[in-house]
Amino acid sequence: MGYTRLKAFEESGYVILDSYDQAADPKEWLDVEYVNWKSSGVTRFAPLASAFGEMECNGFWNHTPPRTDKDGVWVQANVEKAPILQRRAAEPGANVGRCRIIELQPNEYGDALYNMHQDDNNRLNPDGTGWIVRGFFNLTDNPDSVMILREDRFDPSTEIRIPLPAGAQMILDTQRFWHAVWHQGTEPRYCLITSWESGPELDAYIAKYHGMPHIENYPVSKETAEKAEAHFLGRVEARAAALAAAGKVDEGVKDPEA
Ligand SMILES: [Fe+2]
Repeated sequence: MGYTRLKAFEESGYVILDSYDQAADPKEWLDVEYVNWKSSGVTRFAPLASAFGEMECNGFWNHTPPRTDKDGVWVQANVEKAPILQRRAAEPGANVGRCRIIELQPNEYGDALYNMHQDDNNRLNPDGTGWIVRGFFNLTDNPDSVMILREDRFDPSTEIRIPLPAGAQMILDTQRFWHAVWHQGTEPRYCLITSWESGPELDAYIAKYHGMPHIENYPVSKETAEKAEAHFLGRVEARAAALAAAGKVDEGVKDPEA
């Protein structure tokens, strides 16, 4: 039977929505509680919806009983501090799974490429229901930071670089695309990430906010791109060598949130 997919994703697998004017909104992302979840020191998460409404970020499939990334329960202590963000996440009317604010420290292009992964959003998702995709609402103003998407992890010609000024809104098939954020700056970047179920509600929301299936890539020089790619490939090689030296099998790149 297969999954219900978004009509809006037929062309490219992502859409950029109208930008949201949040100039008058309070900075709710500074008031919520962040938890240390598989933290490398570079990212932290503040859950707005979790598997059972607890202040935690574990994948829903790691709970008992295990289930897919749907029917998230609002985390009261955090949504009380972030009612506008909760309202924005709920606005499409599509089923909400995980919903969290990510805090990301500045990083380098080549390290962001190394961080690319595919999300495990549809684990245990029953056939015949909607494919889980994710919304990204950029909260801080990071016009020189980009969401990197690649169809093929090792093919830079497939790279899409979406700039992240305040209010930037996009919906991405993060299980299809290799993705990570390259955050240039000196302060952390904050973004609201919501798992939504594909279906008519989400298609209507995308139409309402004029979802565009393409964007002009944030420009980088050939030299910058080549340097980053070399750094990325060097890290991949170093990891493979370290695993081989330890007699371990490389199990590939896992979803860091899973
Ligand atoms: Fe991801």
